Amino acid sequence: MRTQIGIVGAGPAGLMLSHLLHRAGLESVVVENRSRQYVQERVRAGVLEQGTVDLMNETGVGGRLGREGLVHRGLELRFAGRGHRIDLFALTGGKAITIYGQNKVVEDLTDARLAAGGRIVFSAEEVSVHSLDSESPSIRFRAGAETVEVQCDFIAGCDGFHGVCRPSVPAGVLTEFDRVYPFAWLGLLAEVEPSSEELIYSRHERGFALHSMRSPDLTRLYLQVARDEEIGNWPDERIWDELQRRFATHDGFRLKRGPIVQKGITPMHSFVVEPMQYGSLFLAGDAAHIVPPTGAKGLNLAIADVRVLARAFSEFYTSGSRAALTGYSETCLRRVWKVQRFSWWMTSMLHRFEDENAFDQRRQLAELEYVVGSHAASQSLAENYVGLPMD
Ligand code: APR
Ligand code: PHB
Repeated sequence: MRTQIGIVGAGPAGLMLSHLLHRAGLESVVVENRSRQYVQERVRAGVLEQGTVDLMNETGVGGRLGREGLVHRGLELRFAGRGHRIDLFALTGGKAITIYGQNKVVEDLTDARLAAGGRIVFSAEEVSVHSLDSESPSIRFRAGAETVEVQCDFIAGCDGFHGVCRPSVPAGVLTEFDRVYPFAWLGLLAEVEPSSEELIYSRHERGFALHSMRSPDLTRLYLQVARDEEIGNWPDERIWDELQRRFATHDGFRLKRGPIVQKGITPMHSFVVEPMQYGSLFLAGDAAHIVPPTGAKGLNLAIADVRVLARAFSEFYTSGSRAALTGYSETCLRRVWKVQRFSWWMTSMLHRFEDENAFDQRRQLAELEYVVGSHAASQSLAENYVGLPMD
């Protein structure tokens, strides 16, 4: 098999890259080691920045998003028994976020690729990448008894944090930066009407909690638990009782309860690898960086990476210039570190840390009071939350 750009991973990064390359008249093959069903049913995040929504609309894959996405012009910070609305729309000159499940983004992009004759290999086994330091790298995988080789000019490593691409770079080339948080998120999906119009980020003595949603009858909720917590210790009733405590307000907020259809625990960490390129391999999305979900940035950062990468490939194939490809890592890392800062800041401001003392708790509350009480501070949160301007 031969193509121009071989892409490993059919998540938001890999699929959006293949879609953008197609629109630029460039060929690609996506190699995914999971089944199509698995990739499309995986419950993950669901907040799209303005820039991500605009890109999906501009490139013709925003139809269902426009029909089913929930546009939010604000969010609530809740602490000390009171809620405070951050007016994202007013503070950013008219930008908003859209609630739309990551699995739907993956479905829309997969459908668009296949409808346009795109090549996506699902359930590829034993995927490996080769000759990364040459101008003719390749992706190899097993399809049943057959071993298939995809010869390409470049490889885009969009295979997430646990993929094969980043570990295939020789030792000593990449530098890793990380921060592991001493807690995790227990996330759930419940078949019940959301208890508020907009997202609620709650800082509470007992730990953080987040109220989000997927549709008018599907609620998504998260609560902070210990890093090594077992889901078995959290029967549904205990979850609902704990969430009710952490969202409680002086004016009697009641959380609506319903059947929990999915729940799981995700550890929290921040991770960046530099550079995001090695020879003919370009890393994008979770393959190169992980953010804690408190800032709702993971998916949006992956899309921002491939937007830069698609432009760089297009420049190479139209003009022969490698300038944008050479600058890819530096361009992306400028945004990656700003987004890392914002995600770390939101996490630090809203979670309980086991090593904190009474001083730290007062300081945390004072920071929240400052953010909701200062136009400048709430505007800073808002402009980061709706998405920093694209390069
Ligand atoms: N070979 C082929 N595919 C692989 C391999 C492999 N060895 N390992 C992983 N994959 C696939 C995964 O099954 C997944 O479909 O690569 C894809 C990576 O997708 P994501 O993990 O979603 O990563 P990315 O596309 O970078 O999107 C990142 O989206 O899911 C949100 O919040 C999440 O921040 C994350 C963001
Ligand atoms: C979600 O809806 O899944 C969600 C929302 C906001 C976050 C993280 C996840 O910060």
